[in-house]
Amino acid sequence: MTPLHAIPPITVHVALDARAYDIHIGAGLLAGPGTFGPVANTRARALIVTNATVAPLYAARLRAAVAPHFADVVVCVLPDGEQYKDWPTLNQVFDALLEAQCDRRTTLFALGGGVVGDMTGFAAACYMRGVPFVQVPTTLLAQVDSSVGGKTAINHPLGKNMIGAFYQPRLVVADIDTLRTLPPREVSAGIAEIIKHGAIADPDFFAWLEQHMEGLRALEPGIVADAVRRCCEIKAAVVASDETESGLRAILNFGHTFGHAIESGMGYGAWLHGEAVGAGMVIAADLSRRLGLLDAQDATRIRALCERAGLPVRAPSLPVKRMVALMQVDKKTEAGAVRFVLLDGLGRAVTRGAPADTVDDVLRAHGGT
Ligand code: NAD
Ligand code: GLY
Repeated sequence: MTPLHAIPPITVHVALDARAYDIHIGAGLLAGPGTFGPVANTRARALIVTNATVAPLYAARLRAAVAPHFADVVVCVLPDGEQYKDWPTLNQVFDALLEAQCDRRTTLFALGGGVVGDMTGFAAACYMRGVPFVQVPTTLLAQVDSSVGGKTAINHPLGKNMIGAFYQPRLVVADIDTLRTLPPREVSAGIAEIIKHGAIADPDFFAWLEQHMEGLRALEPGIVADAVRRCCEIKAAVVASDETESGLRAILNFGHTFGHAIESGMGYGAWLHGEAVGAGMVIAADLSRRLGLLDAQDATRIRALCERAGLPVRAPSLPVKRMVALMQVDKKTEAGAVRFVLLDGLGRAVTRGAPADTVDDVLRAHGGT
């Protein structure tokens, strides 16, 4: 295994004019004295938002790294879980900000996975109509996907991520050392979003993943760093060309239309987001095949790679009617018609509708009842 010190830090730039920022990827960044220098404001407070699982692992380390750059550091610890990505929990962040009399120069730091990142970003977008925030992702999923691109949100009982804002961070710091404490199930969930980036945009990266899946699951530092970098490069390019999803950005939702229906249908937290995306990509690949867009061989490669990643490749036995109703709440729906992200060949994503009976058939073929 590559020693951690041999992993050179990498920077990926998200080119968004006035809202541009860097993503730093490397080992040991959280303890690096200069890591947070670029967002320093010694006249302002920092608020670290994290959760009950991540706080004992990394809050002290982040606090020590941030403290020299700010007048004061406050830590807000939320309950852990997708089921807490909601209004009452978001309000705890506002309580902490107001109780500490934080002004509009306050910088929020999101320390945790995608749930903490999405909620902290949304809190930053709302507090005093917008304060700066920094993403410090500690799950593989957050490092390869959710910390980049400025989608922030909470869930609504009627639909996932339905209440939110586009709001970019000032900096993203992905310390791959933090992944060492991640449970294997969460590693697999993160790999789902990695496979997604290869499937939608880069067939060579997809083939590289086929070669390196075991090393990735074992969190071999060199392989993890390469995977995080490539996903961030792909996502940064898509976001830079379509920040607010008026077109191209929708391709980042490959597998998510089916995935969100699984997550909502099963109750938030029962299936991990990445697990639902894994099964969702297998269904979307099969739908692409049924519509004559994707070779059967490539649909099989996607299924096989998800299986090797330790992901579920079959949907839970939810009624097809309920799945379709849940998909109609998806943000890509236009005038009640669901728009699917499909593959017109491996590495080429397209967005389009599909006949209702084909959708019913594919859902039934993958576990729907
Ligand atoms: P998560 O935030 O729930 O984290 C997964 C689990 O790992 C949690 O229990 C967490 O406490 C724990 N954890 C985090 N870091 C850890 C560490 N280093 N060691 C040990 N445990 C750790 O889930 P996630 O998979 O990171 O993110 C999923 C969320 O991200 C979903 O809500 C999804 O909607 C969202 N998301 C957003 C975007 C976006 O563009 N904004 C993209 C993809 C997903
Ligand atoms: N995860 C989808 C996006 O960032 O657009």
